[in-house]
Amino acid sequence: MRLSLLPLCLSLSLFFFSLLPLSGLARPFVLVLTQEDLKDASSSSSSDEDPISSDSSSSDWDDFDSSETKPDDELDPGSWRPIFEPGDSDSKPKTESELLYYSGVSKMVSAASSGEPRLMEEAAAEIEAATGGGNAHAQSALGFLYHMGMARERSKGKGFLYHWFAADGGNAQSKMALAYTYLRQDMHEKAVKLYAELAEIAVNSFLISKDSPVIEPVRIHNGAEENKEALRKSRGEDDEDFQILEYQAQKGNAGAMYKIGLFYYFGLRGLRRDHPKALSWFLRAVEKGEPRSMELLGEIYARGAGVERNYTKALEWLTLASKQQLYSAYNGMGYLYVKGYGVEKKNYTKAKEYFEKAADNEEPGGHYNLGVLYLKGIGVKRDVKLACKYFIFAANAGQPKAFYQLAKMFHTGVGLKKSLVMVGECVFSKATALYKLVAERGPWSSLSRWALESYLKGDAGKAFLLYSRMAELGYEVAQSNAAWILDKYGGRSMCIGESGFCSDVERHQRAHSLWWQASEQGNEHAALLIGDAYYYGRGTERDYRRAAEAYMHAKSQSNAQAMFNLGYMHEHGQGLPYDLHLAKRYYDQALEIDPAAKLPVTLALTSLWIRKNYADTFLVELIDSLPQIYPKVDAWVENVLLEEGNATILTLFVCLLTVLYLRERQRRNAFAAAGEVALPQQPGDRVAPLAN
Ligand SMILES: *[C@@H]1O[C@H](CO)[C@@H](O)[C@H](O)[C@H]1NC(C)=O
Ligand SMILES: *[C@@H]1O[C@H](CO)[C@@H](O)[C@H](O)[C@H]1NC(C)=O
Ligand SMILES: *[C@@H]1O[C@H](CO)[C@@H](O)[C@H](O)[C@H]1NC(C)=O
Repeated sequence: MRLSLLPLCLSLSLFFFSLLPLSGLARPFVLVLTQEDLKDASSSSSSDEDPISSDSSSSDWDDFDSSETKPDDELDPGSWRPIFEPGDSDSKPKTESELLYYSGVSKMVSAASSGEPRLMEEAAAEIEAATGGGNAHAQSALGFLYHMGMARERSKGKGFLYHWFAADGGNAQSKMALAYTYLRQDMHEKAVKLYAELAEIAVNSFLISKDSPVIEPVRIHNGAEENKEALRKSRGEDDEDFQILEYQAQKGNAGAMYKIGLFYYFGLRGLRRDHPKALSWFLRAVEKGEPRSMELLGEIYARGAGVERNYTKALEWLTLASKQQLYSAYNGMGYLYVKGYGVEKKNYTKAKEYFEKAADNEEPGGHYNLGVLYLKGIGVKRDVKLACKYFIFAANAGQPKAFYQLAKMFHTGVGLKKSLVMVGECVFSKATALYKLVAERGPWSSLSRWALESYLKGDAGKAFLLYSRMAELGYEVAQSNAAWILDKYGGRSMCIGESGFCSDVERHQRAHSLWWQASEQGNEHAALLIGDAYYYGRGTERDYRRAAEAYMHAKSQSNAQAMFNLGYMHEHGQGLPYDLHLAKRYYDQALEIDPAAKLPVTLALTSLWIRKNYADTFLVELIDSLPQIYPKVDAWVENVLLEEGNATILTLFVCLLTVLYLRERQRRNAFAAAGEVALPQQPGDRVAPLAN
């Protein structure tokens, strides 16, 4: 089977861009691969031997087994969990420097929450003291303080240095921060190496830990507005929908029982994870024959999540689920047959049959598992290319583990080495991007849950601190959440700077840098705000060229407002060449993308039309003089009308003035010389001479 790389790369781009809003839950039963698997994978050897018992790295296979006891704390050492979920952690700080570290972090969190610069300084001092003994976690936290410029003089260099030492000492979050720094500096080789390591930890946490951490960080704003819908859904037990659901479940609705069980099992919708509650709801649901709950009971017994592990029971529940046409259950059954758990003996033939059954019924987990069989040559002849094909299929269906396998294949170039040269760059950056995506699902993503909980409790300061930490680790959603919180609540005492509260400069600089990073990662709202910041010289020097660059960036995401702004800048020769044709094209595109832009576009086209047809007349001068009254208008709009930085509204307002003025003038002219200036009713339709 030949696999052509170029289309592969294309299809990869396709799924890569379509994958951001990945649906939350990973299929529970999948096999895992390690670096070892790929080392000799290209030397296709057939194998009838038992690859597991003959494989020296066989321990890697026991994802559900001995290694299963590894808690998140071990995968993410130095995690702030003991501060936010004190009851859940069984690893209490032991050494002196560890105690000092946790005391420092805990003070840092309180200081951010209550807005006490002096407490922050105390926290920083404790954290710094804890680094004295070479404590990697304290180094990581100190790196964060330097990076932010919080109770320490802001210094990228020092931030980097401390993260470097911390990463060297085994702190995973600092590895994330470093990888992101390398990525931003186009140091791909270093970035890809770190991300590969982190992605492996993350993938292991999907499978090993008792909980699935695959939960997307919630974007708390939608453009300039608070994302009310998403927030409402994150209120846990206080959410009305949840209460209705619970009521239905209590009335005996099996579907509702399953959903509630699921929410508790994975800690979704702002609920704290609660295995006993999940188990009791699933058990009630299966009494009514609810199949998805049967599958999850299989999962729970196989993992021993809150119950004593019992593979026999797991197989029983999975079999029951599969009999009800729940095809994903076949993945679990196949898994048990690969491992020989809960069955008399291993049977690869049977396992493959089960995986095929799942795959034939469009269960991506089935494709993934078949990919693993072919990659490792389990019960089949090893075939790396076929494996790759299965992984692509699974990845297109949103399987994070498949991203990981593909990234690894691209990275190591297994079976694709020869063709790699041709599309090297594409493949290389894809690998980094895929790894990053998977790495961001690692146990450190819990920060997002605590941040959201704090935000929902009205503690913007704490939420800001936590999102800022995640921003440093490279999470785009956190960058934009932090920036948005800062813009919205920054006036209060929540922003703590180098000494005391943030100065205006510090606050602007912080917001600017956060928006900038988010926009680099493709956030169009952020790109737009950056464009506006440069356009109006807010928080930075006024710079039309960079404004145009940022708008271009947002434009590439089909953002109507960015297109409008670009049109405006072409019309006025600001940062972009004076070009009325292009200006019109941008205005038209803006309208095409967003019919709601009709009014501003119409007004802009009017002004364009005037510029074209009345060149060098009083009217054009008038339009050109309008920007000079911008500052006043700007202030007025800001104070009276709207939030700041809205170029559309501003332009709209100015154009409105123009039109009002023209109407007025037209009326006056009508007395003097009737019909001399006939303003078209629908100016947009009449700009025909400009049409390209
Ligand atoms: C596991 O479950 C089976 C069937 O439900 C039961 O017979 C067996 O005793 C259980 N094993 C353990 C160790 O509890
Ligand atoms: C394995 O499963 C296949 C298909 O279900 C069956 O035909 C075969 O006899 C089994 N092999 C063993 C050794 O049990
Ligand atoms: C500007 O205002 C318009 C109209 O109210 C709104 O749709 C848009 O989201 C705002 N843009 C920004 C960047 O605030």
